[in-house]
Amino acid sequence: MSEEQKSWDSSQLRNYDIELEQIPRYHFQDPKVDERISKNQPVLITGSKLVKSAEEKWNLDYLGKHLGKSTYTVFLSKNHNFKYFDEKKIYSKSNPKGIEFKPPTQRLEMNIHEFMKKLKDWKKGDDRLYLQQTLNSTVGPSIVEDYLKFDWHFVADKKNKHMWGELTSNVLFISMEGNVTPCHYDEQQNLFAQILGYKRCILFPPDQFECLYPHPVYHPHDRQSMVNFDNPNFTKHPKFKNIKGCETVVGPGDVLYIPIYWWHHIESLLHGGPTITVNFWYKGGPTNLQYPLQDHQKVSIMRNVEKMLLEVLQDPQEIGPLLRAMVLGRYTDP
Ligand code: FUM
Ligand code: FE
Repeated sequence: MSEEQKSWDSSQLRNYDIELEQIPRYHFQDPKVDERISKNQPVLITGSKLVKSAEEKWNLDYLGKHLGKSTYTVFLSKNHNFKYFDEKKIYSKSNPKGIEFKPPTQRLEMNIHEFMKKLKDWKKGDDRLYLQQTLNSTVGPSIVEDYLKFDWHFVADKKNKHMWGELTSNVLFISMEGNVTPCHYDEQQNLFAQILGYKRCILFPPDQFECLYPHPVYHPHDRQSMVNFDNPNFTKHPKFKNIKGCETVVGPGDVLYIPIYWWHHIESLLHGGPTITVNFWYKGGPTNLQYPLQDHQKVSIMRNVEKMLLEVLQDPQEIGPLLRAMVLGRYTDP
């Protein structure tokens, strides 16, 4: 998308007081795309035909007609934020009674007609909806046909060149304008292909861990930042003041590479109509322990240490005191 074709403006972006650079955009044939991917650096890839077959047809009417009879996972939120939580962690060994966790969104199963109707009838002040569903074999034949026409050579080339593991899933996202997926990281490589409408994506490298205060790993909000970007609490999260990231707005035809363990906040633009995205999630490649370690490898190590301590101590309350006793005055500056 060139500047002349730009079909959104800055009044459609939410306001955050964060220092952000632009994520570079390169044509899919530009060697800089692979240079960046090989260094786990985000890049906005233009001009690929990855989901062209979908861009040409997928809108709410077409999907309503062809997605099929199965039910779809739809999240419902009282506000614009759809913060992910892991239901399995609400009742886990470290939280047997599921106490003190109020799910911020409600997860519903709906048939596609019901969802589309709610989307069309939506009025300001109503609960918001966000469909997030892994594409599976229940979709109708037209969708299968479009899916088979995705440019699978393009993604296979990225997987092979960068030694990613297998494709684990394609998630279909159908969002209302203004919906936000708050800041989190995933443990997979992500090619995020935009089909309809515009999304602003704010990314932070894995070394911003301390500024983003992720929930503990046992918590249902594992991998999600505790910082509320709409109203940061600088007393609780003082290092958020120092956060530095990068951003871009993706539109139809754009593919954003979101590297494994990179933090991302994603918002469908305000007053921009509904958005449709399909992502391609790949497992990370084989672990290559070359020193110095990369920042995302250090996050993975922290997760493992945290999980091991939870396993042996059996009580999250004991983790802080134990780690403090271990490091304070020994591994910290005098
Ligand atoms: O809302 C979204 O499009 C989120 C995508 C993701 O977290 O990968
Ligand atoms: Fe994500």
